[in-house]
Amino acid sequence: MITPSSDPIDLATLLDLDDVEAAAATRLEPMALGYYAGGAGEERTLRRNREAWGELDLWHRALVDVADRSTAAHVLGLDLPIPVFVAPTALHRLAHPDGELATARACSTTGVPMVVSSLASTLLEDVCAATDAPVLLQLYIGLHREVAVALVQRAEAAGCAGIQLTVDTPVWGERHRERRSGFHLPEGVDVVNLRRHAPGSDATGPVTGGIGEILGWTVSPSVTWDDLAWLCGTTSLPVLTKGLCRADDARRAIGCGAAGVVVSNHGGRQLDGAPATARSIGPVALAAREADEHATVLVDGGVRTGADVLRALAMGADAVQLGRPILWGLAVGGQAGVARVLELVADDLDRAMALAGCVSVDDITVDLLGSG
Ligand code: FNR
Ligand code: LAC
Repeated sequence: MITPSSDPIDLATLLDLDDVEAAAATRLEPMALGYYAGGAGEERTLRRNREAWGELDLWHRALVDVADRSTAAHVLGLDLPIPVFVAPTALHRLAHPDGELATARACSTTGVPMVVSSLASTLLEDVCAATDAPVLLQLYIGLHREVAVALVQRAEAAGCAGIQLTVDTPVWGERHRERRSGFHLPEGVDVVNLRRHAPGSDATGPVTGGIGEILGWTVSPSVTWDDLAWLCGTTSLPVLTKGLCRADDARRAIGCGAAGVVVSNHGGRQLDGAPATARSIGPVALAAREADEHATVLVDGGVRTGADVLRALAMGADAVQLGRPILWGLAVGGQAGVARVLELVADDLDRAMALAGCVSVDDITVDLLGSG
């Protein structure tokens, strides 16, 4: 078995998110690395997510005075320093003992909103108390519908800014890396937010396998548009529908009362063969805004550079979400590691905007992709 190294990492030597990922691979237990890094099936969607952003050329505007510029953005009624959210990812305590609290504190120092997974390994209330940044709750409607109700009520009471309902997970994708590395919940790490409401969920089940065996009850194959409409009707919080790739689904989500969509294929972990999000974001953004001009449109999957953020906004997104890079940051340095990841992206976006001739996020328009 590979033993993770414990030599300290000088975060200043990590110059981009690939450096952070490589360093994290030397720190994580093989089980956690396999779970975090893996995608579904042949991992085609996982690979394409990253490649497809790179295939979009950026046609910069020349001779623009960019001396005075800002990466600030206004998304979902929130004033943000950069158009970036921390995507919901499960079980941060597999990466670092401080888990979601470390992530939340890094968000606090950078002002970046954090979407907390319903499969987090820290109580939502404790995450909210650890940060001044906005917090959103990601929700799965699982086999026990009353758990979703309880979680939404807790999100409202804790002052969350919104809900992301994930809709690409009627069943769990088959991730071979996750299974081969023996996914399990180590002693002391659990889905604490769900466990407290889920009747019978702590009955002894298999202890290793894929997430489908260990946490199968957390999602349900019978969730439909009616559930989305019901959810939107039960809460005053804005609901974003996470995990769409189709224009017709975006229109339907808005019709059910969603405040917007997150274009996502779950980081290539669900349907292998789903389109790279760099390709689905354009039509979905258009459809969502036709249905509601104020719809919020986020995108995630393979976003790794400031230029990728620029590409996503040029394609019509209001902001992007970062998934795995946050986990890599946690693994290399806890709170400071996550802060380093967010700082690298913020600096890179600022530079990319200057080089492209943009002084504000409003200047990031589709002509940068070559249609001007
Ligand atoms: C995820 N993702 C995810 N999504 C969600 O809605 N709820 C969740 O609990 C999780 N958990 C989770 C765990 C891990 C280890 C990963 C890698 C991903 C998907 C996540 O929100 C996001 O869609 C992708 O991670 C974005 O792709 P990148 O940035 O990882 O390429
Ligand atoms: C995953 C879940 C937790 O992708 O969304 O592993």
